[in-house]
Amino acid sequence: MSLEEFYRHFRWWMDPDDGRALRRFNAIVSFFEGRDVEASRVLDLCAGTGIAGVAAAKALSAPELTLVEARAEDMKKAWKWLEIAGISPKLRLVAGDVLDLPSLVGEHDLALLWGHTMPHFDPFEAVRLFSGVASVLSDDGAFFIEETDRIKRFLYGSAYKDFLVERRTQDYTLVSLHEGYDVRRGVERRGYYRLPGFEKVAGMKLRLWDLASQLALGRIFFREAELVTPSEHGLSEVSEVLLFRGPKKGIARGVYSEFQNSL
Ligand SMILES: C[S@@+](CC[C@H](N)C(=O)[O-])C[C@H]1O[C@@H](n2cnc3c(N)ncnc32)[C@H](O)[C@@H]1O
Repeated sequence: MSLEEFYRHFRWWMDPDDGRALRRFNAIVSFFEGRDVEASRVLDLCAGTGIAGVAAAKALSAPELTLVEARAEDMKKAWKWLEIAGISPKLRLVAGDVLDLPSLVGEHDLALLWGHTMPHFDPFEAVRLFSGVASVLSDDGAFFIEETDRIKRFLYGSAYKDFLVERRTQDYTLVSLHEGYDVRRGVERRGYYRLPGFEKVAGMKLRLWDLASQLALGRIFFREAELVTPSEHGLSEVSEVLLFRGPKKGIARGVYSEFQNSL
């Protein structure tokens, strides 16, 4: 199914004739009015109809706005958003793939990826996207992503067990309870209790990782990243193994020292 077909049926709230989209538009304007951001060149990525880019340009009184979107047709609706916003920045519509960003646009001060768009990218594409965005932003430029935490929403909200029997021995049973989720760190707070007696054994903060994110993360710092699956290594007692080769020491040292204190 093409992106065009998908969005024809999915009906994301971004059309200027849609009341819900208008409410979104006004909320995005308010969001950017409340930020300490200055930008004269706004770049809206995966812009759809340009709802977010026009809203940000209005809030920040930006004289230049660029939209990048794979589906050219929807972008024309940006003119209607400008009319609704009552502004007339210099508008540039770029039909293309945001993964090719450095070859599509020049320098900007503010980049947006609005509207829960990250699922369109796998972890490796996400690294390409982020590095592309960082390379087209001015030195004091900023990148805003509107997203939701799907691990929290879909996993903890559905199949996940908030009460789990973890181990059963002759002497005791260890159970764990879901005790919260830290959305900033992406970790679950889980309490471990011993039965009988319900004595707390530990409180843990745990991150449920997928494999591709770890591969993509590693690929930033190593020239090669490889996944060896159980069917490839043939050992039933060994899980998937991630293998990284060729450290990029320059990048690694810089990021390592930056992450010592900032997080
Ligand atoms: C969920 S919509 C969000 C639209 C808009 N930013 C908003 O806030 O309403 C995601 C948009 O990303 C576009 N898109 C997906 N992959 C893309 C890519 N690789 N390059 C450019 N646009 C892409 C889709 O066509 C769609 O319009």
